[in-house]
Amino acid sequence: MKLSALLTTAVALTVVNARAVETRDDNDKMEKMNNTKEMDGNNADIYPAPMANGGKSWGDAYKKASDIVGQMTVEEKTAIITSAPGRCVGTTQAVERLGIPRLCMMDGPTGPRPVKGISQSTSGQTAAATWDRDLIYQRSKDMGQEFFDLGVNVALAPVASGPIGRSPLGGRNWEGSYPDPYANGQFSRLSVQGLQDSHVAATTKHWIMYEQETFRHPYNTSQPDNIYPLLTQEPVSSNVDDYTTHMLYMPPFAEAIRAGSGHVMCSYNQINGTQACNDAHSQNHLLKTELGFQGSVISDWGGVHDTAASIRSGMDVSTPGVDDVGYSMGTFYKDLDKLVNNGTVAEDRLSDAAIRFLTPYYWLGQDSEHTPPEVTFDAASGLDLESEYKNVRKEGTAELIRKIGTDSTTLLKNTGGLPLNRPQRLVLLGSDIGSNVLGPDGCGDDRTKCPMGNFNGTISVGGGSGSTIPPYVVSPLEAIRERVEKDGTEISYAMKYDEDHINKISSRADATVVFVNNWAEESKDRHNIDLDEEQAMILDAAVKASSNVIIVMHTPGVVNMEKWADNDNVTAIVEAYYPGQETGDAVVPILYGERSPSGKLPFTWGKSLSDYPPNTISTDDSMTPQADFSEGVYIDYRWFDKKEIEPRWEFGFGLSYTTFEFSDISVEENYKKDENEVQATNEPFEGSDGTNSLYDTIKTVKATVTNTGDVEGCEVVQLYVTFPGDNMPVRELRGFEKVKDLKSNESKQVEMDLRLKDLSVWDVERQTWVMPSGEFKLSVGSSSRQLPLHTTCTN
Ligand SMILES: *[C@@H]1O[C@H](CO)[C@@H](O)[C@H](O)[C@H]1NC(C)=O
Ligand SMILES: *[C@@H]1O[C@H](CO)[C@@H](O)[C@H](O)[C@H]1NC(C)=O
Ligand SMILES: *[C@@H]1O[C@H](CO)[C@@H](O)[C@H](O)[C@H]1NC(C)=O
Ligand SMILES: *[C@@H]1O[C@H](CO)[C@@H](O)[C@H](O)[C@H]1NC(C)=O
Ligand SMILES: *[C@@H]1O[C@H](CO)[C@@H](O)[C@H](O)[C@H]1NC(C)=O
Ligand SMILES: *[C@@H]1O[C@H](CO)[C@@H](O)[C@H](O)[C@H]1NC(C)=O
Ligand SMILES: *[C@@H]1O[C@H](CO)[C@@H](O)[C@H](O)[C@H]1NC(C)=O
Repeated sequence: MKLSALLTTAVALTVVNARAVETRDDNDKMEKMNNTKEMDGNNADIYPAPMANGGKSWGDAYKKASDIVGQMTVEEKTAIITSAPGRCVGTTQAVERLGIPRLCMMDGPTGPRPVKGISQSTSGQTAAATWDRDLIYQRSKDMGQEFFDLGVNVALAPVASGPIGRSPLGGRNWEGSYPDPYANGQFSRLSVQGLQDSHVAATTKHWIMYEQETFRHPYNTSQPDNIYPLLTQEPVSSNVDDYTTHMLYMPPFAEAIRAGSGHVMCSYNQINGTQACNDAHSQNHLLKTELGFQGSVISDWGGVHDTAASIRSGMDVSTPGVDDVGYSMGTFYKDLDKLVNNGTVAEDRLSDAAIRFLTPYYWLGQDSEHTPPEVTFDAASGLDLESEYKNVRKEGTAELIRKIGTDSTTLLKNTGGLPLNRPQRLVLLGSDIGSNVLGPDGCGDDRTKCPMGNFNGTISVGGGSGSTIPPYVVSPLEAIRERVEKDGTEISYAMKYDEDHINKISSRADATVVFVNNWAEESKDRHNIDLDEEQAMILDAAVKASSNVIIVMHTPGVVNMEKWADNDNVTAIVEAYYPGQETGDAVVPILYGERSPSGKLPFTWGKSLSDYPPNTISTDDSMTPQADFSEGVYIDYRWFDKKEIEPRWEFGFGLSYTTFEFSDISVEENYKKDENEVQATNEPFEGSDGTNSLYDTIKTVKATVTNTGDVEGCEVVQLYVTFPGDNMPVRELRGFEKVKDLKSNESKQVEMDLRLKDLSVWDVERQTWVMPSGEFKLSVGSSSRQLPLHTTCTN
């Protein structure tokens, strides 16, 4: 049994238990691992852990938590913050004498995992591509309801800026949202709100600068691309300057914390050579002081490398805790009680950690009016998840997942291939049209566990802790087969490459729709952005045989389409991301023109890997691999714009079946106090007078969009700002609004608020946010490169 079964957050616990004997040796080695470095780099003396106080809105909950914790012994406090074997992916220990139950933590960002009876939502990236705040929120709210109904207290979601998507190869980019701090912040805020409005605590992850899977663990057996023997290589170190940290990586977490995220998960990587979960600068200073975070920091599974260093550096909850058998370096919170009793760790710090973990529990009412039901599933039953089956799927959730899938679908090219016009003969090609031969759950909780050579069919989500077991997956073939009855269409298809067969059926068809896909999973970065060989061969055969080829892609990000994008026989290209259980049904309304496409790329689609910043996945042949974030804030479109690289399709791009015109831009002073936040940050800013906030609106931009085409449609109005001064990105997204269901000839004025922070930059010298003086250029349009409206404002 390989450690590869041990994914970040979630593990089938029996798998772990079964390994207990085998790993004892490994544990001995782990005990001996030299942690001097982490201790040295930890700096908890310079950045001591701030005590929680409940912040702006959690005062009552904080008081309840501190009263209870005040009655606990050192051992009980330790138990509260240390996971132990239980029914969930993580289960903290109870203090029965004080009525504190075990709290249940479960993956993940597409729904509860690993358990059945749930819905498989779309990936985060898919929801991001809708640019629809209502759908992003509702997706999380529905997921939250399923977590809650299963008895889960803490959901290990959402993914904010860790990874943000620094590298197009990142194995987990699809779990998150946008490689842009503003849009990612909006997504993170709404996702936290959605989960917590269903009374489940959110765990915003992964704090921070967690941008690659390669070398994230020092075990060669657990991670596919490791090159050194077990326990010799240190996790990759993300070396990032303070400016980039504040401008790019922190803002999404700031928004999640303002939304009241109960918890934050610390990541596997090192930061500047110090393990993230025991880095006092990032946890005690940046997270808990500057962002004023009042909840708890939960370790990623196995991210704890040193007990005293982590708790002193601001980590609060250890997972998988005493359940650990092999990936916490044997330390987790081992001997924490002894360390407290002999003064190595202050008892106040221990109390603070327990209070921080319990405060969201009280704030969400999980002790009272919103007590989740008792957990009846057993995540520890591994892949045999049928015991005590409970269906928590609610009416309306499938419809929502379908709608997110439809409204995210992004039309990238259309020279007349779409919408399909009552074809007589339709050809469908590619393995992605079909269903997994083992069924939707035959590979267990994760498709990475499909047997070698298994026909996997369409890809509905990626692998790892962001995966979920779908109740069903509607394949493209099933959905289209059902739809063709209306038009009396005949279908032919091929799921495998067979040139003669493809040539025969495609050459006489009215339209050939080729579905291609690309796989991504946790623990492994993509090695390239190429389609696999068989899919490329199918595409080649299709364009040779037919002059009406429509390509639909299910990918976790960019794939290289240069061979086909300009081919005249390719009459439409559609990106459909990872749409979850409703895959086929989500794309049919777009293919048939029942709904105009309105998705927009939540990342830049380059022409080749070399278009992106170099070396964003460190593969150093070193015991201490280093990832130098030397591109600074210039990732994704910021890089393409700065380097004047022409992408294939730019950030924010997506076509429609109708056309839109933009007019009447204006910007006005418009001071509005921020009324959205649950918790306030302590981010310093110039002009602070004790009553105003960095998040107060200072200006409002207005613009009008008109549907000038023949059919109803939605447009995502995007606002980009060019800051005064040199050494700033060409433009940065600072507002977006999806104008929905605009009828032909209908106009709508949109208003986009700019907050003080949206027009500020981080001054490293002075350690404060400053609104630079000079002229700001404001541009509005339909993508990051189609910006017909311009105006300016001056500070
Ligand atoms: C631990 O690391 C330090 C610094 O790299 C080194 O000097 C020391 O010998 C190491 N100790 C052990 C037990 O390996
Ligand atoms: C892991 O390390 C061991 C011991 O050096 C080696 O035999 C093995 O091939 C390595 N495994 C991988 C996957 O690199
Ligand atoms: C990492 O090091 C850089 C360069 O010294 C510094 O600017 C930055 O603040 C450090 N980041 C963290 C999180 O400690
Ligand atoms: C405190 O206890 C820990 C765990 O037993 C031990 O490793 C450490 O050496 C002790 N420290 C002191 C100062 O006694
Ligand atoms: C299906 O997925 C599994 C796991 O990723 C892989 O081993 C298998 O080869 C795949 N099947 C095909 C035909 O690619
Ligand atoms: C386009 O398709 C036609 C058949 O309809 C074929 O003759 C032609 O060679 C194809 N063009 C390309 C560039 O593949
Ligand atoms: C839209 O406006 C144009 C020009 O005013 C007009 O000719 C057309 O009939 C209108 N279409 C609809 C659907 O109202």
